[in-house]
Amino acid sequence: MRIVMIGTGYVGLVSGACFADFGHHVTCVDKDKSKIDALLDGKIPIFEPGLDALVESNVASGRLDFTLDIASVLPEADAVFIAVGTPSRRGDGHADLSYVYAAAEEMAPLLRDGVVVVDKSTVPVGTGDEVEAIIKRTNPSLEFSVASNPEFLREGAAINDFKRPDRVVIGVNDDHAEAVLQEVYRPLTRNDAQLLSMSRRAAELTKYAANAFLATKISFINEIADLCEKVGADVRDVAKGIGSDSRIGARFLQPGPGYGGSCFPKDTLALLKTGQDYGAPLQIVDSVVQVNNRRKLAMGQKVIDAMGGDTHSKTVALLGLTFKANTDDMRDSPAIDIVKTLKDAGITVRAYDPEGMDTSKAVIDGLTYCENSYDAMTGADATVIVTEWDAFRALDLDRAKELLKRPLLVDLRNLYSRTDVEKHGFEYVAVGR
Ligand code: UDX
Repeated sequence: MRIVMIGTGYVGLVSGACFADFGHHVTCVDKDKSKIDALLDGKIPIFEPGLDALVESNVASGRLDFTLDIASVLPEADAVFIAVGTPSRRGDGHADLSYVYAAAEEMAPLLRDGVVVVDKSTVPVGTGDEVEAIIKRTNPSLEFSVASNPEFLREGAAINDFKRPDRVVIGVNDDHAEAVLQEVYRPLTRNDAQLLSMSRRAAELTKYAANAFLATKISFINEIADLCEKVGADVRDVAKGIGSDSRIGARFLQPGPGYGGSCFPKDTLALLKTGQDYGAPLQIVDSVVQVNNRRKLAMGQKVIDAMGGDTHSKTVALLGLTFKANTDDMRDSPAIDIVKTLKDAGITVRAYDPEGMDTSKAVIDGLTYCENSYDAMTGADATVIVTEWDAFRALDLDRAKELLKRPLLVDLRNLYSRTDVEKHGFEYVAVGR
């Protein structure tokens, strides 16, 4: 199978490398010359564990390559995946589809009969219809299909998620598209992965509904965590108590500083917009978004409260900046709101993140970026764990205590046990405990 992947962002690059690893011939195309040059030079523009080795071995085997020149590869393609960005449109939260439509228009005159154009970008219901209309308008004699194939990859675990998926969803409106996508995913289905075939619109909606449901679980457990703090219960017990009911499920019930990232914040807003557009308002999702926004703002105040409300000449050490571990992604990270609240209160912030410092510098300024956790904690009045990096799970608390002005640990990811931390002479504040 010859596959062309339009867009070498997170989804395009991971999917392209994995398809090549399955044995397909994949060319990833991008308009950004610096990205393509870097990839041709063996450099991976994003941080994702295992991706560099996967790209390297598939390039070496001749199954994966990169180009700026779409016209040189599209005429040969059996399947063309659109994996370009669909950011939130400023103002109304609707997904900005201009890159998707531009890609459809550009590819249309170059495609060959029988090609299947597959939307992998997260797009609102009906986008496949519009992509089909654009291609038909631009190249009326072309025989082609348009399908939807949403991705469910988590940053930091993307390769495993791609190769061992709970399910693959394909949205197809004709048998040819179904047959081609069955072939594309044969290496997975041969190993018993579940391939769910449905209409294009159902597949488009499935992606948004999945992310909104996961975001709902998180906002739900975050509110329960707040209640646990008031009533004197441990949210981890409650999460286990409900999560072991298979109807509820144990995953995505970790309370924390609120969800961030490239998907949940953007996709919940876009789904709300779709609900409004179709006269079916989604009140639950609306509350989930509000709870999360409030939570991210409340976390800075939680730190200030833990310090007894005294912010005068105070310094806080932030451990972790990215929205979760194993990524350098800062998009909608709770750290952004936390830093703002602390700085607005006049607090000096010293921060360290294992991978996110460069991306953070473009988003947050006015804080001191440190060499490592201990450097960040030097002279600080409190330490706050914002991201659950492994590097923060086993801090040398005795060494930390020596360096800190006040041994106060605010653990927004519940990485530590209270008794352990208190044994080392620390005050300990966690989430929902
Ligand atoms: C998510 C979806 O999981 C994935 O299927 C989809 O394709 C893209 O969006 P991702 O954004 O990479 O993936 O991260 P995920 O691991 O889902 O975490 C999202 C956010 O929720 C993070 O900020 C994380 O810290 C938070 N989270 C997650 C919690 O606060 N508690 C949890 O129990 C799980």
